[in-house]
Amino acid sequence: MTSQAEFHDRMLSLGLARVAEQAALASARLVGRGDEKAADQAAVNAMRDQLNLLDIAGVVVIGEGERDEAPMLYIGEEVGTGNGPGVDIALDPLEGTTLTAKDMPNALTVISMGPRGSMLHAPDVYMEKLAIGPGFEKDVVSLTMSPKERVEALAKAKGCQASDITVCILERPRHQDMIAQVRETGAAIRLITDGDVAGVMHCAEADITGIDMYMGSGGAPEGVLAASALKCMGGQIWGKLLFRNEDERGRAAKAGITDLDKIYSRDEMVTQDVIFAATGVTDGSLVEGIKREPGWFTTETLIMRSKTGSVRRMQYRTPV
Ligand code: FBP
Repeated sequence: MTSQAEFHDRMLSLGLARVAEQAALASARLVGRGDEKAADQAAVNAMRDQLNLLDIAGVVVIGEGERDEAPMLYIGEEVGTGNGPGVDIALDPLEGTTLTAKDMPNALTVISMGPRGSMLHAPDVYMEKLAIGPGFEKDVVSLTMSPKERVEALAKAKGCQASDITVCILERPRHQDMIAQVRETGAAIRLITDGDVAGVMHCAEADITGIDMYMGSGGAPEGVLAASALKCMGGQIWGKLLFRNEDERGRAAKAGITDLDKIYSRDEMVTQDVIFAATGVTDGSLVEGIKREPGWFTTETLIMRSKTGSVRRMQYRTPV
């Protein structure tokens, strides 16, 4: 079979879930051990080994970094047996390395797969992000609005007061003004120390998580992964790449990006149907973290397909 083989998302989704599970299990042994690098490395090794068992001709488009800075799962690395459909893969073997090292909530292993050419090749720079859940008119909020305007527009669309809205923001000095503006509206803020893929995904299940909107800057690769998740769960996300220097602009050029000011919608970041899997490493509002019992590990994994909007939660128990 060649890379012309069809992308059978149903068949591949269980394989993708196994990849996420194994990465989480590998890092589970390092939860709360204060060693971010070791936790990340364990997840990377396990993810790569599992990916290479899949019958795909995969190319990592969102990965651990450029080839010269990441020994494996680097951007452009070919993964899989080569016997199967040509696919793009976006991954973050451990989203929340510090969360894992400190045993704090919402660390995940994350991976998404789609046909070749389905995902934005975002360079490893920052991205300004804005996300809301499903059920709202297109562009009800936008990155061109001020944080205050976004809260007010979302409250109007929901038919509630601004004070009924909860916004999730990464706690960083660069977000001080944004936080102050959101507070002025009376909205609540869930400040997170890391993990904005989970932060964005929380908007898709606002009833469960209590989060209505995500805003702020974080990694661009995480932005594409979050767009992929929302394509499956429903919801809107917008992202604008942020460049701090010539090196970062050069990375964009290398990735084929010419319009440096473009605001990407969800469907411009992820242009075709994809599958997405995430396994909880530490407990979170969306999935449980890994449970350790004498002799056993138990994982919980979200497996989603954008074609059908199906969201499965799968538990897996394995001997230690
Ligand atoms: P890591 O898993 O690589 O530690 O990334 C965690 C994270 O919080 C992401 O979720 C987020 O996009 C990015 O870091 C934010 O970057 P910074 O810490 O530089 O603000």
